[in-house]
Amino acid sequence: MREAILAFFAREPERYISGEEISRNLDISRTAVWKHIQTLKKQGYRFDSVPNKGYRLTGMPDKLDADAIRQAAGELSLLADIIIHESVASTQNEVHRLAATGAAHGTLVVAEEQTEGRGRQGRFWLSPPGGGIWMSLLIRPDLPIALAPQMTLVAATALCRTLRRETGASVGIKWPNDLLASDKKLCGILVESVGEDERIRHMAVGVGIDVHLEAKDYPPELRDIATSLLLETGRRFDRGALAGAFLREFDALYDLYFAEGFAPIRTLWESLSVTLGRRIRHQTGDRLTEGVAESLDERGALVVKTDAGDRVTLHAGEIETIAGNPPSML
Ligand code: BTN
Repeated sequence: MREAILAFFAREPERYISGEEISRNLDISRTAVWKHIQTLKKQGYRFDSVPNKGYRLTGMPDKLDADAIRQAAGELSLLADIIIHESVASTQNEVHRLAATGAAHGTLVVAEEQTEGRGRQGRFWLSPPGGGIWMSLLIRPDLPIALAPQMTLVAATALCRTLRRETGASVGIKWPNDLLASDKKLCGILVESVGEDERIRHMAVGVGIDVHLEAKDYPPELRDIATSLLLETGRRFDRGALAGAFLREFDALYDLYFAEGFAPIRTLWESLSVTLGRRIRHQTGDRLTEGVAESLDERGALVVKTDAGDRVTLHAGEIETIAGNPPSML
């Protein structure tokens, strides 16, 4: 019922809506409306109330809430249960644990805080309470394990499109799936796959978005290389709405991927990339590649033209951008 009441205010954010109008439309008593509004206030929603005019919604809680995420996402085949934790070691661990107990495709785990947030290559991912969106989605795509890296690119493309649209921040993708703003890391994506007989059994699509972190929240070693939406735009954001918008976009691109293959995702990824056209360095074992990142190939690997004029294809790992301005974003 509270969702239905909130929907009234969402439809007409500027108008004062009377308790009488809500009670008539939802067929509940005015006392029930009043009680729901009191509960919403306790959850952090703020209302301006004017006698004889009614209520106007003036503020949303800065708390992650399953209903708010679901409302922002809408009905999606990619979204089943939503589980919110105040504090958890890592939402990735939770998803793997739930997957082993048979949890459904589309189970989402979100946390206000992670105490052992994980990045790629075993790195620590800073995830302080309320500072960002730390979430992992359990998916069970019917795909060969060899195509798992493409799903990472689907997620990065969806996240970049979402953040550009919803926040106006100048966000671009660094291969394969870091999201940068002002050449600093804004979001990280960690897709972990569990397979059987060469096919994927499940994937944990982990997304970390620095939303409200301030410079003082970062340890000195991250201060010059990490950024947040607040630092980039000077604005605060409704984290539930952002999470929902990402899920909607990911659902759309996931469907596109299964309907038309990787080609349209590749085109979108390339248009959002801040890697292509720049000089990069990549090291695996004792093999060092340096050159200009040229394109993404049909599998999602990065094609680099070396100084000797050869073309080298990078399938995994990290790249370092060593020169050149990022291509203009937006
Ligand atoms: C990276 O850039 O190295 C990937 C970072 C991924 C961080 C997210 S936050 C939610 C999920 N849970 C984790 O422990 N990691 C991912």
